[in-house]
Amino acid sequence: MSAWSELARQLGIRTEDASLVIGDQSVVSDGPELHVNSAVDGSRLASLQSATANDLHTAISAGVDAFQSWRVVPPPVRGELVRRFGEVLRASKRPLAELVTLEAGKIMAESLGEVQEMIDICDFATGLSRQLYGLTIATERPQHRMMEQWHPLGPVGIISAFNFPVAVWAWNAAIALVCGDTLVWKPSEKTPLTALACQSLLTQAAEGLDVPKGLSSVVIGGREIGSALAADERLPLISATGSVPMGRSVAQVVAGRLGRSLLELGGNNASIVTASADQELAIRGIVFGAVGTCGQRCTSLRRLFVHDSIADALLQRLRKAYESTSVGDPRQESTLVGPLIDEAAFDQMQSALADAASQGGQVSGGERITEGVPAGGVYVRPAIVEMPKQSDVMFTETFAPILYVVRYQNLENAIAMHNEVRQGLSSSIFTNDLREAEHFLSAAGSDCGIANVNMGPSGAEIGGAFGGEKETGGGRESGSDSWKTYMRRATNSINFGSSLPLAQGIQFG
Ligand code: UN1
Repeated sequence: MSAWSELARQLGIRTEDASLVIGDQSVVSDGPELHVNSAVDGSRLASLQSATANDLHTAISAGVDAFQSWRVVPPPVRGELVRRFGEVLRASKRPLAELVTLEAGKIMAESLGEVQEMIDICDFATGLSRQLYGLTIATERPQHRMMEQWHPLGPVGIISAFNFPVAVWAWNAAIALVCGDTLVWKPSEKTPLTALACQSLLTQAAEGLDVPKGLSSVVIGGREIGSALAADERLPLISATGSVPMGRSVAQVVAGRLGRSLLELGGNNASIVTASADQELAIRGIVFGAVGTCGQRCTSLRRLFVHDSIADALLQRLRKAYESTSVGDPRQESTLVGPLIDEAAFDQMQSALADAASQGGQVSGGERITEGVPAGGVYVRPAIVEMPKQSDVMFTETFAPILYVVRYQNLENAIAMHNEVRQGLSSSIFTNDLREAEHFLSAAGSDCGIANVNMGPSGAEIGGAFGGEKETGGGRESGSDSWKTYMRRATNSINFGSSLPLAQGIQFG
């Protein structure tokens, strides 16, 4: 696996320590110093000077200017840029995935999957660029036509998290670009290098096309850059992925200026395993859901409700599966679980496990691993915690591989416990009983934005709308009709007669 400077070369990054990139113009800024460490072994990958509020202002101004011309480019021509971006991503899949692994510590299979998710959304958005349809609606007035059109919205502010450092931006970027919007991106300060890579690849895709300079910018910095982005009235939409507290503050600021926000916040996802479930399949789904990405997906499985009659057998198999799950260097193909992002994540995990134990939980796993793993990285054994009932600790999303298991007697109680948390992102049921499955998917079942049958809650494909309810924030990204959030709707009425009939039968003069 290559080092950062080699990957930067392969990915065409011109300035390795830039913190502001507008189009292909990199600026080495003079904000506070930002150290970028590899999650694999804690080694220093780069030190950047963060962007300043002034840099952000410059990037947004460039996005506003670029929007003036981009919004009138025919959508399928905009789609051509996104189609080419997908091609560039195909060609650069390996180095970009290596960089995701190096910076965020994901295992290579998942990093390759994440880049594939970018490619998929580019394909989707390319097709979508010919389908940004509005309705024609029956009108009550003679010789009239009423219709709706969808127009570009403006420059979009994107705030993304470390755990999907490239795919979540790509969901926003690919859709926003075909919708005629421009992009200003504040990536997680834990993963700025992958953001530089994405910007470089998008710029390569634009070569030879008539694309305005400020179409896409990356502004690397901390919380203050995110707050300033949210507050800027020139950005009609802020799409933010991250924690509930971050989303709450973005939502308030954006609502205060009557802007639109698309929020993708915490999940506290659960699965129910009923007595009729295929246990072999359930085990596989549970393990991928709970330990995949070291429990650091917003869709990770955190709570498991198992029917009492099968709980002993299932737990025994689950523990066995956990024991054979290899934790270690994410660059090695045999590894299934890589490191946590940093020490703070480890501290949060330990404090959650201590709370769980004090609430009657039986903890297995969860300890730090130091042998056979790269020194300097934060490696843990994924934990299973058998809880006597759903209690306080289970209401918090801890971004770590902790799976709480609670037994249940009847499905209604399991669904009630399932929905009892404040988050509402993803969910699933393992069952071979059609009634149980359909009940879980019905209005009286899961209250989440995503509800699955016979698979875990994570690993959604891009064709569906992605997002959740309650404290998850209500936003929907990627597939289905999520594009509508990135556009503004105009209702048009056209009179092709020579009189002026008024709606509601009003006679005037
Ligand atoms: C996230 O964790 O923010 O469904 C996104 C999944 C992935 C996306 C996760 N396709 O797990």
